[in-house]
Amino acid sequence: MNEDVPLDDGFVQVVRGDITRQRVDAIVNAANSSLIAGGGVDGAIHRVAGPELQEACRPLGGCAPGQAKMTPGFRLPCRFVIHTVGPVWSGGSAGEDGILRSCYRSSMRLAVQHGLASIAFPAIATGAYGFPEARAAQIALEELRSMADLSENLSDIRVVCLNATTFAAFENAMSHLLD
Ligand code: APR
Repeated sequence: MNEDVPLDDGFVQVVRGDITRQRVDAIVNAANSSLIAGGGVDGAIHRVAGPELQEACRPLGGCAPGQAKMTPGFRLPCRFVIHTVGPVWSGGSAGEDGILRSCYRSSMRLAVQHGLASIAFPAIATGAYGFPEARAAQIALEELRSMADLSENLSDIRVVCLNATTFAAFENAMSHLLD
C-alpha cells in the first residue's frame, strides 16, 4: 500500500509528515518533565516556534508525566502547542501504558476546554523514550477514538508520523481496531 495515503477510521486520521508544518489549532509536543527543549519532535517544535516558546514554558513549572500544559505556537503555523510528557519505557510493568493513555487524554481534554477544532499528535514516547511502536499506536488510537466525540467542535484529530515505521505501526493498529 502506498505509505503516504492517509488512514482514516472516521475518528482519527493518520498521516505521514512533519508535525511542525501542520495547520491545525494545536500540535502536541512530546516533551520532557522540565519543559526545556530536547531533541526529537520537542527540538523540532522549539526550533520552528522560536525562542519565545521556551520563554513561555519557563513559568509553567515543568510538567508531570501523563499531564499536559498549553502555550501559544508563536512562529509555528498552529495556534497552540500542547506539551505532554510520555513515559520512559522500562519493560512495561511500571505503569507506562497508563501514563501514555493519560498523555492523549490530558491533551484532548485541554483541546476541548479551549474549544479547539483540530489537533495533531506525534507518536508520543516512541522515540527517545523507547516505548514499543505497535503498543503505543494501539494505545493512541484507542484513547483518541474513545474521546473523538467529546466535543462537536474538535472534528479534525490526526496523528502525524515522521517516518515509515511509525506509520506502519499505526496502519496495523488501525486495521486491528477496525476488525
Ligand atoms: N514530526 C512528527 N513526528 C516527529 C518529528 C516531527 N518533526 N520529529 C520526531 N518525530 C517523532 C519520532 O519519529 C517518534 O516517532 O516523534 C516520535 C516521538 O519521538 P521523540 O521526539 O524522541 O519523543 P519521545 O520518545 O516522547 O522522547 C521525549 O526526547 O526530545 C526529547 O525533550 C524530549 O526528553 C524528551 C524525550
